Amino acid sequence: MNLILLGPPGAGKGTQAQRLEEMHGLKQLSTGDMLRAAVASGSELGNQVKAVMDRGELVSDEIIVDMIAARIAEPDCANGFILDGFPRTVPQAEALDKMLAGRGLELDRVIEICVDDDALVARISGRFTCANCGTGYHDTNKPPKTGGVCDSCGGTAFNRRDDDNAKIVAARLEAYHGLTAPLLPYYRARGMLGSVDGMRGIDEVASAIDGILENQENGS
Ligand code: AP5
Repeated sequence: MNLILLGPPGAGKGTQAQRLEEMHGLKQLSTGDMLRAAVASGSELGNQVKAVMDRGELVSDEIIVDMIAARIAEPDCANGFILDGFPRTVPQAEALDKMLAGRGLELDRVIEICVDDDALVARISGRFTCANCGTGYHDTNKPPKTGGVCDSCGGTAFNRRDDDNAKIVAARLEAYHGLTAPLLPYYRARGMLGSVDGMRGIDEVASAIDGILENQENGS
């Protein structure tokens, strides 16, 4: 199964993608994580995109499409993938359609996670991830079971993102409403869009997504 998770910054795309990866054996492909890894490695790509990401703007469609095209071709995507943070513009969605058709692949479902803008800032400012395995947490909504120790790998070092501050979040939200929200009618018109209420708790959102996927598998 090949899925897209759509939603504003902090909606819970990464949280739900990690869960779907574990439960359904799909591969999470987060363009944000790939870009942050490129920045951290000091590669040419990383140097090219760092300033754009620091401003909360979108990286060029060309860079992103080339990056995801190469990643989807890797063997660990053969059982299916979850696109987390891609596509983010209509040209990216059109390039994805073309790329998948050229490889005999299809998108099965696009799931929108709907969250009010006000709630997003609180979510983003409390977010942190395990420095070792990348598992995501939140100061109040999803703390590790044992304080300071990662549930998944036992790691004790954690990271907070440079772009998770109020000013940059405002720019990221503007990019979402201006450039990414037009993808909702794009996929709705193709009958592919399912929406879940992302204001509910993490487990309730997960159940709503599972409901959409079960209907998909049953053909209803
Ligand atoms: P990216 O890394 O994709 O960031 P984003 O879309 O802004 O999304 P986030 O990762 O911030 O949020 P999320 O929805 O995954 O939320 P999470 O699960 O962590 O992109 C960063 C930058 O890279 C962009 O600004 C751009 O520059 C560039 N970029 C990336 N892709 C691009 C593309 N395709 N084209 C161009 N540029 C691109 O949850 C947030 C917090 O809330 C967590 O702490 C979590 O525990 C908590 N939480 C989650 N769900 C719930 C819930 N239901 N209730 C309460 N708390 C919850």
